[in-house]
Amino acid sequence: MYFCEKLKLYAMAQISNEISRTFNEYLLIPGLTTKECTPDRINLQTPLVKFTKGSKSEIVLNMPFVSAIMQSVSDSEMAIALARNGGVSFIYGSQSIESQAEMVRKVKEFKAGFVASRANLTPEDTLQDVLDMKEKTGFSTIAITHDGSSNGRLLGLVTSRDYRPRRDDEHKKVKEFMTPFAGLVTGKYGITLEEANNIIWDKKVNTLPIVDEKGCLKYLVFRKDYDSHKDNPNELHDEQKRLIVGAGINTRDYEERIPKLVEAGVDVLCIDSSDGFSEWQKETIEFVRKTYGDTVKIGAGNVVDTEGFNYLADAGADFIKVGIGGGSICITREQKGIGRGQATSIIEVAQARDEYFKKHGQYIPICSDGGIVQDYHMVLALAMGADFLMMGRYFARFDESPTKKLLIGGTYVKEYWGEGSNRARNWQRYDMGGNSTLKFEEGVDSYVPYAGKLKDNLEITLGKIKATMCSCGTLSIEELKNNAKITLVSSTSIIEGGAHDVIVKDNKNS
Ligand code: IMP
Repeated sequence: MYFCEKLKLYAMAQISNEISRTFNEYLLIPGLTTKECTPDRINLQTPLVKFTKGSKSEIVLNMPFVSAIMQSVSDSEMAIALARNGGVSFIYGSQSIESQAEMVRKVKEFKAGFVASRANLTPEDTLQDVLDMKEKTGFSTIAITHDGSSNGRLLGLVTSRDYRPRRDDEHKKVKEFMTPFAGLVTGKYGITLEEANNIIWDKKVNTLPIVDEKGCLKYLVFRKDYDSHKDNPNELHDEQKRLIVGAGINTRDYEERIPKLVEAGVDVLCIDSSDGFSEWQKETIEFVRKTYGDTVKIGAGNVVDTEGFNYLADAGADFIKVGIGGGSICITREQKGIGRGQATSIIEVAQARDEYFKKHGQYIPICSDGGIVQDYHMVLALAMGADFLMMGRYFARFDESPTKKLLIGGTYVKEYWGEGSNRARNWQRYDMGGNSTLKFEEGVDSYVPYAGKLKDNLEITLGKIKATMCSCGTLSIEELKNNAKITLVSSTSIIEGGAHDVIVKDNKNS
């Protein structure tokens, strides 16, 4: 970076004359596409945590996406869906230690095909309760347990074949029409998915309740799910075949929070802060190293320049997040006047990472956090040097995000709010130390267009990324970083890049 050295004679701030740029200001120039360069040959694996020269990262993502540390994005459901597709979620830290640890535990205990029963009643409930439950949850298989909980003693099962809505009396008790336990085919807790599916086929049932030795319900296995859990070749798991999950932490309560998350089985932590160039982060990393050595992985950030990167690298971070003020819900730049264009930040920090690797033999992956709008921004960020990307808005649009789906003005939307908004009240993320509490917001509460299932959208996005990589003639993210040709674009060439000088008939894809 160039600073006006001469001006420093007058004891003033360092002023960079370099323009701070965003992804929109760049495009990729194609490289030679060889015959070998086809989408099915492209490898999207990328390191998540640092490694030394000649060794391999202990966690390698199967695709370069992680979901943002946000209430409106990353809970256990998102974490399960994302890990099953090869990425990682960082479960939000702006909740109690217990509930965050519980979410981590849920991901680690997830077994494909075994689902916790989400619609449960007792034998004393009525047909009306069954109909209400079906309406509320959308589930037509209802487990009947002694206390109406998902892990109570299993007493029966109700499906839509057990009643006729308009003919049966709605006051009729569940116990009069449920299929009682004695009439059910069940599986023993501990059986494999293959064994469960064999029972489903041999006994010709649609649902197999899995019960423990006390007769308590653990899971349900559905015939209709059979196909869906065969095709997750990118699933990301640990040595014990459990899904990989991350969690966000802050620099205030880490001494209590981290042990609970580790106990719950978390694979990787990340300090969540809008400005990570701080002694608070160094102290937090030191605590992890002192307590756990290198066994617990911890990322830090966010930074936007070499100085910030080197500081956190020397402090021992396992990966470093880059980005201030570029998030879609972020108003940090307006409120505090700090930040930097995301593209410029990534380009500089990627150079710092490579220098650090040359000098110290340690490769510390960097994550581009926030500001990704178009799918092609993802390829640009990777080509500029990011090892992986953290996204909030992108994931908030899917079924698996924790927020409500609403119909507004004829369009389905999902809610999406910033961690620095009044709604999330995650003031630790914007904590500058000391005792004063925060007095202003750094994020907004918003809607994003609803987009359906994560898996379906990922297929399209990753398809586009692979197609672009083919155009660049690169078969891996490593090759893309080394060989991509990137150009700045003028504002008029941006206009040229969209449909222009025609009357567009249908703007569904715009
Ligand atoms: P997006 O992918 O552009 O929506 O950006 C998501 C990123 O914005 C997150 O990963 C955070 O780094 C950042 N972020 C989350 N909440 C806030 C906020 O309230 N203000 C500023 N930045 C935020």
